[in-house]
Amino acid sequence: MSRSAHPAGPRHADVLPEGHYSAPAADLNVLDEKVWSRTVTRDADGALTVGGIAVARLAEEFGTPAYFLDESDFRARCRAWADAFGPDADVFYAGKAFLSRAVVRWLKEEGLNLDVCSGGELTTALDAGMPAERIAFHGNNKTVAEIERAVEAGVGRIVLDSFQEIVRVAHIAQRHGVRQRVQIRVTVGVEAHTHEFIATAHEDQKFGIALADGQAAEAVRRALALDGLELIGVHSHIGSQIFDMAGFEVSARRVVQLLAEIRDEHGVELPEIDLGGGLGIAYTSDDDPREPHEIAKALSDIVGRECEAAKLRTPRISVEPGRAIVGPTAFTLYEVGTIKPLEGLRTYVSVDGGMSDNIRTALYDAEYSVALVSRTSDAEPMLVRVVGKHCESGDIVVKDAFLPADLAPGDLIAVPATGAYCRSMASNYNHALRPPVVAVRDGEARVIVRRETEEDLLRLDVG
Ligand code: LLP
Repeated sequence: MSRSAHPAGPRHADVLPEGHYSAPAADLNVLDEKVWSRTVTRDADGALTVGGIAVARLAEEFGTPAYFLDESDFRARCRAWADAFGPDADVFYAGKAFLSRAVVRWLKEEGLNLDVCSGGELTTALDAGMPAERIAFHGNNKTVAEIERAVEAGVGRIVLDSFQEIVRVAHIAQRHGVRQRVQIRVTVGVEAHTHEFIATAHEDQKFGIALADGQAAEAVRRALALDGLELIGVHSHIGSQIFDMAGFEVSARRVVQLLAEIRDEHGVELPEIDLGGGLGIAYTSDDDPREPHEIAKALSDIVGRECEAAKLRTPRISVEPGRAIVGPTAFTLYEVGTIKPLEGLRTYVSVDGGMSDNIRTALYDAEYSVALVSRTSDAEPMLVRVVGKHCESGDIVVKDAFLPADLAPGDLIAVPATGAYCRSMASNYNHALRPPVVAVRDGEARVIVRRETEEDLLRLDVG
C-alpha cells in the first residue's frame, strides 16, 4: 500500500500500515469481558463503570492516571483458585505482582497463602496480619538480614535458591534454635514459551539449582544433613505469562522423578512440591487463558500419575499464581492529551502517564488493549499507538490498537489487565508521581495505595 495514496489524518481500518495487530473489533464500544474485570460494564450514558461507579466520577475524585482495582473480582479469583485446588493443596498468591496491606487482608480472608520475595514484601505481609506460617519466602539473593527476619517471624517456608543459601539459612535457624521448614528451588530445564526475561526454568539463568547435572540431588543431600533445616519439598517455577500446560507437565514430571530419587537414596518421601506460578492472562482478545479448575486438574492428574508410576505417596501440591489473580482485576485510567496523526502510519495518542506506570510494553514488548471509556462513539476505528509523557520514544503503553477517530483531548481511555506488575514495577522516571491504587467494590471506592506527591519526592532528596 503506498503511503501517498492515503489522505492525511487518522488511519482508518480500511487503510492500515503493516504492523502486529488484529483487525479492529466490529464495535469498539463493546468491552470484551475477557480483558476487563468482572464488574466492568457501560452505563446508560455509555461511560464505563466498575463496581457500579462511573469512570468520570472516579477520575474526578482520584485523578488520572490511576489504577482501579475491582475488589470483588480479586476476591472471586482467590476463591476460584482455592476451590480449584481444594483442601489438599495450597495456593500462594505471588505478592510481587501487586502487594499492599489491603491485598494481604483480602488474601487472609479468602484463605490464600502468600509468597514474598523481599524484606519489604515480608514487612507488608506481617504488618497487615498475614500469619507467618502462611508465608513463603523466595529470592535468589536473600540478605542475611532478610533471612534473620523471616526465621524470627516464623515463616512457613523459605525457598532455598543456591548452595550458599542452604548453609546460610541453616546457620541462622540454628542460632535461633529452630528448624526452619524449607524447599529447594530446582531448575527443571524447561524452555517456557514466553519472553526471555520472564522464562525461569532453562539452565542458563540466575534462579535455582539445576536438576540436570545432579546439582539438585546434591543440594538435597546437603539440606538433609543440616540440623537447622526441615526439608519439606521441592519447588519449580518455569516462567510467566504461559498458556501452554505442556511446560508445567514436564516440570511436574521432573520434580516427581527427583522425589523418587530422593526416596531411593535417603529413604525419605518429601511431603510437598510447589509448581510455581506463571499462568497467562488475557491482555487482548487474542489471548485464551486456562481457568483455575483446568489448571488444577492438569497438574494434579500428572502428579498423581507420575507418583503412581514411581510408587510414591502423592505429595501436597502448592502453586503461586500472581498475575492470574490480580492481573485481570485492574485497569489504568488515563486522560488523553496530545493527539498526533501521522499520515500513512498511525495516530500517536499521548496520555498523562506512561512507562512509569506500565513498563511492561517497553520491557517485554507486552501487548495491551485500550478503550475509550468516558463515552461511546460511532466514529470509525483509527489505528493508534498510546504513548506516555516521558522523555523517551520507547515510552509506549499500547503499541497497536484501535480507538474511535473522533478521540479528543480530555477523553478518558483505559488500559485493562494492568493489575499485575504495573504498580509493582512503577518508577519515578522523570520524577513522575506513581499513581494511586483505588479499590472499588459495591458502589464504594477507596484508596489502598495513595498517589505520590511532590513532597514525597523532596522528602527522599535530602539535599
Ligand atoms: N513464583 C515465583 C517463584 C516467581 O518467581 C513468580 C514470578 C511467581 C511465582 C508468579 O508468577 P506469575 O503467576 O505472576 O506469572 N515482571 C514480569 C513477571 C516476572 C515474574 C517473576 N516471578 C512481568 O511483568 O511479566
